[in-house]
Amino acid sequence: MKICYEIRFCVTVLFCGIVGLVEADIPLTHNFQKEQIFVQGNWYNKDGSNGRPVITPQDTFQQCMHHNNASGCETTWGQVFPKPELGGYRRYWTNTNYYQPGRPIFIELAGEWDAAGSVDGGYWHNYARQYNAMLIVLKHRFYGGSFPIRNPTNADLWLMTSQLALADAARFIEVFTANNNLNGTSWVAFGCSYGGNLAAWFKLKYPNHVKTAVSSSAPVEALYDYPGYMQTVSDVVEVVDAPCYTQLYDTFSCMEALYNGSQPTCGTYNSPDDLLAPLQWCNSVDWNGLSREILFLSLAMNVWAANAPSGPVRRACDTLSSINGANNVEKYGNFMLAMGQDGGCRHHGEKAGADREWLKSEEAWQAGAAGWRWQTCNEFGYFMSSDPIHGLYGRRTWSGDGFTRAYVEGRIAETNAYYGGKNLDSKCVIYVHGTWDPWHTLGVTTPKADNTVIIVPGTEHCADIGNPTSPEMVAAQAQILAQIGSYLNDPIC
Ligand SMILES: *[C@@H]1O[C@H](CO)[C@@H](O)[C@H](O)[C@H]1NC(C)=O
Ligand SMILES: *[C@@H]1O[C@H](CO)[C@@H](O)[C@H](O)[C@H]1NC(C)=O
Ligand SMILES: *[C@@H]1O[C@H](CO)[C@@H](O)[C@H](O)[C@H]1NC(C)=O
Repeated sequence: MKICYEIRFCVTVLFCGIVGLVEADIPLTHNFQKEQIFVQGNWYNKDGSNGRPVITPQDTFQQCMHHNNASGCETTWGQVFPKPELGGYRRYWTNTNYYQPGRPIFIELAGEWDAAGSVDGGYWHNYARQYNAMLIVLKHRFYGGSFPIRNPTNADLWLMTSQLALADAARFIEVFTANNNLNGTSWVAFGCSYGGNLAAWFKLKYPNHVKTAVSSSAPVEALYDYPGYMQTVSDVVEVVDAPCYTQLYDTFSCMEALYNGSQPTCGTYNSPDDLLAPLQWCNSVDWNGLSREILFLSLAMNVWAANAPSGPVRRACDTLSSINGANNVEKYGNFMLAMGQDGGCRHHGEKAGADREWLKSEEAWQAGAAGWRWQTCNEFGYFMSSDPIHGLYGRRTWSGDGFTRAYVEGRIAETNAYYGGKNLDSKCVIYVHGTWDPWHTLGVTTPKADNTVIIVPGTEHCADIGNPTSPEMVAAQAQILAQIGSYLNDPIC
């Protein structure tokens, strides 16, 4: 673990714990142009904003602190922290433009981000128009201003779980139904990414609260070591730019073969340490340790790993093809520099400590980065590794020490036991995935009795929640629209 504190790279090594609880290493990458940091699949703005325009003002709802027993509702968030402008309530947003009494209510279970503005857009407006539905977006506890406890410490974090978020949603539906005389209304859950997990899990665990759920791009299987992410990114590179794929393959496999000892040389380089200068990597590397994994992960991650990879891949491949260098390794080092990644040689070192500190701040909770880091360590894993079998980018596993890995894996096993992983026993859920979404291999992608599985080729993360950009997506959204109607009328749902 000590080594992690000594490393000064563009990849910052962080721990799952919020204040000193050392559980697993989480490398974070930083975008220096935008002042953003990358936490398990998402870029977060360091000013805590989500950058989205908001039309519909929020409503607030007094939620129970926990739902483990009746006394959990004697302390509601509002009582603990009674200033809505500072958080303390669970926020939600409502759109009644299409709504007619007696018609359904669509509720989006938002995930690890600030959902302000979500109700104002998205393709689900078309579904709502068709079914004269009301739209509601419900914020997840501990994200985007919905805080049971404003700046939580480790001792408070037992309150931060997907299970309590689902219980919050159930109580919201019950109270909203009672307060508005909506008994008999059919509800439909929506969500994408982690929110897509929540939508599917909500139908699973609260089958009478919603008739159906539209679960988009949901990685329902929790997993510690996930090379599938970079595998999909590699697949996208291959389709988007074949010469770029070949160049990356040659570069990484040459370096990999040198340091794993299967080849004595890589071009003109005779030892792994010889690679560091051409890669512009200013830190020493233990070729049997974590620092090697960080080198390879950061060479791959900062530039290539996006939830919607095709745009970044096109830009990165264009840059790579225009870069000079005596050989592929040198070209890659120059390429990293051109992409604003300098391996700790210039300005990255001082940022590492600042990022670590920022992740403990209230702003990081507000932005979602701190909460998501916590949930990945305590429920889901999703740690993006890489290996040459599943992708282009060399080998990067998750080491941690034995105890910490065991701890996180234990939590992940509990999550999969509770929800069922990819074999979750759901009914009347519409699962939508894109084959270019690096998360899709953790989702329900094979046909499933009493559920609907829609796979959209060449499509990226959560793409179905926006306007269609391909004929395949037009067809997929038409299918979602029709299937919502069938499930709303289906007595088995
Ligand atoms: C209710 O559950 C909470 C959390 O598990 C616990 O702290 C509290 O003592 C419980 N209260 C009762 C009355 O059982
Ligand atoms: C709601 O409707 C169900 C039957 O549709 C009925 O059993 C229940 O008592 C009603 N609840 C309220 C609060 O009216
Ligand atoms: C070493 O790396 C090369 C290139 O990626 C790979 O083909 C080979 O299987 C690796 N060998 C071992 C022992 O990991």
